[in-house]
Amino acid sequence: MEEFILGSEVMRAIMKLAHEVAKYDVSVLLVGESGTGKEMLAKIIHLESPRAENPFVPVNCGILSGLMFEDKLFGHEKGSFTGAISTEMGCFEMADKGTLFLDEVSELPLENQVDFLRVLEDFRFLRIGGNKLIEADVRIISATNKDLKELAAKGLFRQDLFYRLHVVPVYIPPLRDRKAVIPRMVNHFLGRLAAQHKRPLPSVTPEVIDVFCRYDWPGNVRELKNLVERILIVNDQNVIGTEQLPSDFLWHFREPARSMALELEEVRRAAETKAILDVLYRLRGDKERAARMLHISPRTLRYKLKRYNIKVDRNGEAVSQDVPGNLDERLSRWSSPQ
Ligand SMILES: Nc1ncnc2c1ncn2[C@@H]1O[C@H](COP(=O)(O)OP(=O)(O)O)[C@@H](O)[C@H]1O
Ligand SMILES: [Mg+2]
Repeated sequence: MEEFILGSEVMRAIMKLAHEVAKYDVSVLLVGESGTGKEMLAKIIHLESPRAENPFVPVNCGILSGLMFEDKLFGHEKGSFTGAISTEMGCFEMADKGTLFLDEVSELPLENQVDFLRVLEDFRFLRIGGNKLIEADVRIISATNKDLKELAAKGLFRQDLFYRLHVVPVYIPPLRDRKAVIPRMVNHFLGRLAAQHKRPLPSVTPEVIDVFCRYDWPGNVRELKNLVERILIVNDQNVIGTEQLPSDFLWHFREPARSMALELEEVRRAAETKAILDVLYRLRGDKERAARMLHISPRTLRYKLKRYNIKVDRNGEAVSQDVPGNLDERLSRWSSPQ
């Protein structure tokens, strides 16, 4: 399994706790934003537990509800509903003697929570359409990016189920609260991904690390890993500098007020240039009449011609001018982070 990078006291404490709880069959609730490493930690707990040789079965609680959810978790007997052409095991049975990982457990449909809690009490259940109680020896690890306690307080999650899952809560902080680990993570992912994609291993300039440390990473470690992978694939330099960072990433560092002003200016310039060129072309270069048609004074027209660097020949045709350029490109150009 891939190395789990710690890099801070908080993360070392979390790992220590994970080692401890791995030995016992207690329910663990991993709490943290998406991409903070909850699933990876769940696997580590499983692999360090006496159940390591048996399956680790992840199930996303958010995607199914009602009967579909029951089917996914408890399976069905052949012929129990249209389309049930054979008997199928659910995740619970598949995880027998192993670990069931309930991902996004806050999304577990309320209607399914009662039955689910009952199964968690004695680990016995029926497949859909079945009449034989099936027993499964399962260790539960769940994960959430929401505050389950608050949901329970609001009646959006069953209180009793919350207490059943919440025996040992482990809170994993977002990456922005442990930025000191970023340089190590970048090197770790570069090394691993370069090997995986059979690419030469590039180095990274301190400026890039600096930029990475200024960013807040709403997608946490997953976002960092994906960005490193993307840069590695697209780039063929052996040193990665800020020039190699994708423009949509650098876009996060633009100064909003300045960019909006710039954008308005660009739009105005492009529109006015086009209108002036059109009129001058139609009036064969007659600037007096062009000004009148545009409802501006000849002086203003002269000023705009100069400012926008618009030149026309004797017939009023555009000669050459500073093309305003692709607006998106200009806006997304690197401006050093404030
Ligand atoms: N501490 C870490 N060290 C190495 N890789 C990590 C770490 N935390 C997360 N990752 C990687 O980031 C990605 C997202 O992690 P994951 O466990 O799926 O997060 P979550 O379940 O919280 O959304 C995975 O590719 C995982 O390997
Ligand atoms: Mg996840």
